[in-house]
Amino acid sequence: MTKRLGLLTSGGDCGGLNAVIRAVTRHAAGTYGWQVLGIRNGTMGLLRRPPDVEPLDPERLDAAMMRLGGTVLGTTNERDPFAFRMPDGNFADRSAEIIEAYHTLSLDALIGVGGDGSFAILRRLAQKGRIPFIGIPKTIDNDVRGTEASVGYDTAVWVATEALDRLQPTAASHDRVMILEVMGRDAGHIAIAAGIAGGADVILIPEIPYRLEKIAAHIEALRRRGRNFALVVAAESVKSPQGEWVYRFHPGGQKSYGGIGAVLADAIAALTGAETRVTVLGHVQRGGQPTAGDRLLASAFGVAAVDLLVAGRFDRMVAWRNRSVVDIPLAEAIAGPHLVDPDGPLVRTARGLGICLGEG
Ligand code: F6P
Repeated sequence: MTKRLGLLTSGGDCGGLNAVIRAVTRHAAGTYGWQVLGIRNGTMGLLRRPPDVEPLDPERLDAAMMRLGGTVLGTTNERDPFAFRMPDGNFADRSAEIIEAYHTLSLDALIGVGGDGSFAILRRLAQKGRIPFIGIPKTIDNDVRGTEASVGYDTAVWVATEALDRLQPTAASHDRVMILEVMGRDAGHIAIAAGIAGGADVILIPEIPYRLEKIAAHIEALRRRGRNFALVVAAESVKSPQGEWVYRFHPGGQKSYGGIGAVLADAIAALTGAETRVTVLGHVQRGGQPTAGDRLLASAFGVAAVDLLVAGRFDRMVAWRNRSVVDIPLAEAIAGPHLVDPDGPLVRTARGLGICLGEG
C-alpha cells in the first residue's frame, strides 16, 4: 500500500534546504513509491484549513532545485503551537489542530528539517499525536547537538569567508580595522571557522570571554610589524565590554542579536586610534547558492531519513559523524546547544596561527 509522508521545513532558513526536499522526495517516491506531501510554512501549514500542503513530484525536483537558496516550502521560526500567540495577545495550545490535520491528510510519517528549537516542538507533537517522526538537522549556527555538521552551516561559513576576502583589500587600501559581525546566535561556530579560513587577525566568540586590552595590544603588535590593517570577526552574541548582550528590537516585539560589531568598532578605535568600519553580514549568510558541501550533506541526510522511516525507526535525528551518516535519539539532539569547545581543534588552530581570541 502506498504510504504518505509529510515533509516540512521549520526555523530560520539556510542554504541546502531545497536539496533536502529534493533528496527526501526522490528517495521516498522514486525508491519506495511513497507519496510526499510538502507542508507549507512549517507547522503553520497544518494549522490552516484546509491544511496548506502540496504534493511533491520527484520529476519536477530536478538538480536546479539544489542550486536554489531558501526553502520552496516556506518556514517559520516564531510560532510554537503549544503556546500560540492569538490576535488578542493571549496564548493558546493549538497542538491538537496540527495533529488533527496530520491524521486528516492520512499521513503515515513526518520528516521535519529544523534546529534544536524546532525539534523540541516537533517531538512533543509527535509524541502527543503518535506520529512517526524523523528530524534532519539544519542551521547556519551549527549548534545542534550530536552532529558534527548541520545543513546550511557550510554555506554560511563560505559567505563569511568570502566577506573577509573582500574586506581585506579595502582594509589595506585605507589603513583600517574592519570588524565583521557574523551570525551564530549563542554559538561561535561560524565566527571561528570563517575567521580562520578568511585570515582574520582577531576572532571573538561567545564561548571565550575577551579583554579589549588584549585586542588592542594585538593590533598594536601588527602595526609594529608593518601591517596597516586588521580584520576582526565577532559572533553576534559576543558581549559588550560592559558584559551586556547587544540586541536589535523589532517592531513586532521580537528581539535578535545585532550591533556588537559597532560597539567593538568604537571601543577599538578609542583604544588604538585606528580608523574602524563595521560590516554586519546578517541574513546574507542564509541565502544564495548552497555550497557543494551543503548539497552533499542535505542529499545524504534526506536519503538516510527516508531509510530510517522505512526501517520503522522513529523519534531519531540523522547526524553526521566521522565522515558518515548515523542516527541518534532526538532526545539527545535537543538536550542543549552544541557550543564551540574552547579547547577544541578549531580554537587550537586559531591559537596556533597566532590569531587573537581576546583571552587572557
Ligand atoms: O538560527 C539562525 C539565525 O540566523 C541566527 O544565527 C540568528 O541569530 C537568527 O537566526 C536570526 O533570526 P531571524 O531570522 O528571526 O532574524
